[in-house]
Amino acid sequence: MAFLSIENLNAFYGKAQALHDVSLSCEKGEIIAVIGANGAGKSTLLDSIMGLTKTTGTISFDGTPLNGGPAAAVERGIGYGPERFNLFPYMSVYDNLMVGAFTARNDIEKNLAAVFRLFPRLEERQAQETSTQSGGERQMVSLGRALMTSPRLLIVDEPTIGLAPKVCTEIAAALRRLRDDMGLTILITEQNANFAMTLAERLYVLEAGAVRATGTVDELRDDPRLLEAYFGH
Ligand SMILES: Nc1ncnc2c1ncn2[C@@H]1O[C@H](COP(=O)(O)OP(=O)(O)OP(=O)(O)O)[C@@H](O)[C@H]1O
Ligand SMILES: [Mg+2]
Repeated sequence: MAFLSIENLNAFYGKAQALHDVSLSCEKGEIIAVIGANGAGKSTLLDSIMGLTKTTGTISFDGTPLNGGPAAAVERGIGYGPERFNLFPYMSVYDNLMVGAFTARNDIEKNLAAVFRLFPRLEERQAQETSTQSGGERQMVSLGRALMTSPRLLIVDEPTIGLAPKVCTEIAAALRRLRDDMGLTILITEQNANFAMTLAERLYVLEAGAVRATGTVDELRDDPRLLEAYFGH
């Protein structure tokens, strides 16, 4: 079984169904991107992995079903960088990072050193309130907080949203290092297909809550379904 294995996942908000029969798998050490337009279901998919939505179907991680809610998902080794970061705006960078550390107390020193190696700017700005940070810096704090949980799988919702190209490049380099140097498995969502294709090895195209196409970057580069997911029919 794949490291992360999602089978026939349906997700619901009340009576509205946001995901339809989604199946997706991710092998250990892969970088996977889920591409889709606004409302495609990207955040719902990641929230569902964390146990934050009402679902049917199965989600397994490292051979065992995930069905214990967000705290259990974190304990199992899934780090989450959510869409709007959910940082505490009037707390410092350091304190926001520590919010991620509550399940991995024994790893605090090691993880903090790794976060600061990856994002030296956060070390310089440890005392800064996150409310005064740029979007790129907040994304770094959000990723850093996820890394403080000692994850084996990192899931990140639209890591480049609202960021300038130069900062996107920095974030991409950081994610690649996390995989190459620290062995993390990474699942991101993106609207920015170009970014996704420079970072990920395999893609899933999500449209209206369903997987419309999947394949390697080379297989999907010129696939009309990728364009349709952006521009509609
Ligand atoms: N809390 C909620 N209550 C009701 N419907 C919701 C809720 N959250 C999302 N939805 C609906 O579920 C569908 C998928 O939304 P989702 O936020 O997962 O899409 P997305 O791909 O992340 O979009 P975006 O690119 O805008 O972030 C949409 O139709 C949305 O309106
Ligand atoms: Mg979203």
